[in-house]
Amino acid sequence: MKTDLIIIGSGPGGYRTAEYAAKNGLQVVIAEREHAGGTCLNCGCIPTKTFCKNAEVIDALHEGETFGVENLKFDINFSKISERKQQVVETLRSGVETLLSAPGITFVKGEARFKDAHTVMIGGEEYTADNIIIASGSRAKLIPIPGIDLPHVVTSTELLDIDYIPKRLCIIGAGVIGMEFASIFNSFGSEVTVVEFLKECLPALDSDIAKRLRQTIGKRGVNFFMQSGVKEITKEAVIFERKGKEEQVEADLVLVATGRAANTESLDLENAGVAYTKQGITVNDDMMTNVEGIYAIGDVNARMMLAHAATFQGLHAVNHILRKKDNIRLDIIPSAIFTNPEAGGVGLTEDQCKESGIAYTCKKGYYRANGKALAMNETEGLVKLLADENGKIIGCHVFGAHASDLVQEISSLMTLDTTVQQLHEMVHTHPTLEEILQEVAEQF
Ligand code: NAI
Repeated sequence: MKTDLIIIGSGPGGYRTAEYAAKNGLQVVIAEREHAGGTCLNCGCIPTKTFCKNAEVIDALHEGETFGVENLKFDINFSKISERKQQVVETLRSGVETLLSAPGITFVKGEARFKDAHTVMIGGEEYTADNIIIASGSRAKLIPIPGIDLPHVVTSTELLDIDYIPKRLCIIGAGVIGMEFASIFNSFGSEVTVVEFLKECLPALDSDIAKRLRQTIGKRGVNFFMQSGVKEITKEAVIFERKGKEEQVEADLVLVATGRAANTESLDLENAGVAYTKQGITVNDDMMTNVEGIYAIGDVNARMMLAHAATFQGLHAVNHILRKKDNIRLDIIPSAIFTNPEAGGVGLTEDQCKESGIAYTCKKGYYRANGKALAMNETEGLVKLLADENGKIIGCHVFGAHASDLVQEISSLMTLDTTVQQLHEMVHTHPTLEEILQEVAEQF
């Protein structure tokens, strides 16, 4: 079959790109070997966020007395938690399937492999197109240590499908996945221990924010072993080396959250001559590979392993195919960690400014001085706003309730090259947490 565009993978990169391309008049074939919706919808962002909501409800119940709700007694029914998660996933999945049945889109179930630079085999059928977008995502990267294959050692995908709350959960890796699940399972009542190789959690985050987040989650009862490299997993324990000494932590279930690897294998990229490294497929700023007409978006190009990054890279790739100019700012991608409380950031961190010698000013604001935060009993929180010499906002990093929403406001403003002076003059609703941003802007 001949078509205009073949998309490999139906995650938030693939399906949103297919929808956009079809609306712009292209005939699209989109291939998927598993479920429609990809990692994000089936075993990533969405099921994790339903767990986050359960955790938030449980945390709120524990705080009942603060709000005058006394003598609360409750049990956690984990099968209901799982059922709700599954319902949310299935509702969204059928939404994506409907979207992929729209005019102009042919959704093909099966594994896609390149035959040559314009031909892709999907389940024995041959499809040709001038343009191909690879959006094949990533998978959990496992560390090659003894015991990694034991039945109680799981990745985040399997952890989302367990049918019980583990008594003792050990998490290897304090990255985004490790920290989100540490927060969730701590709320569910597990004894959680995190073992991390580096000195601080969440290496990509502002270091002040990362430290505060770890300390807060630590106070809630999560046990952290930092600068600790895991060497082995046995039936009873996770064994690691800390400051030259061997230590161990007992665990009933072990989550391996040591990063994700791009899905480059099984695509037969060699047949198309597409260049890639161990990290992922190499692309230019238009998301095009070394082969004219072949693009790679999302986790598989490893530029930024975030669902929304994949989506917007995909939209930009379609615009490039259509020779259509756009203003999508792929250099401004906000991110959030959905722990309780949340953390998030956009743009440069102080550490990055220092490393690259960029002149900047950083001002801080605190949740404890904000009326809404006090009313919500969410006084633990910090906002860091960074501006360059001309006052242009170049970064924002937040730790505290609804950090993702605060960061989004600044991300939108950065897209429009807003200055701190302009932010200060923008009317903000009272009382909201977003007023903290305006108050910080006033300090410049
Ligand atoms: P990560 O790369 O963020 O963190 C992995 C951590 O494991 C690192 O800190 C590393 O030092 C540590 N580690 C590696 N080997 C170790 C060992 N032997 N012993 C102890 N520690 C070890 O990877 P993660 O958390 O698996 O996330 C994967 C990707 O998924 C990330 O790119 C992330 O951005 C994305 N993601 C984003 C979410 C969000 O935006 N909210 C949610 C979940 C995932």
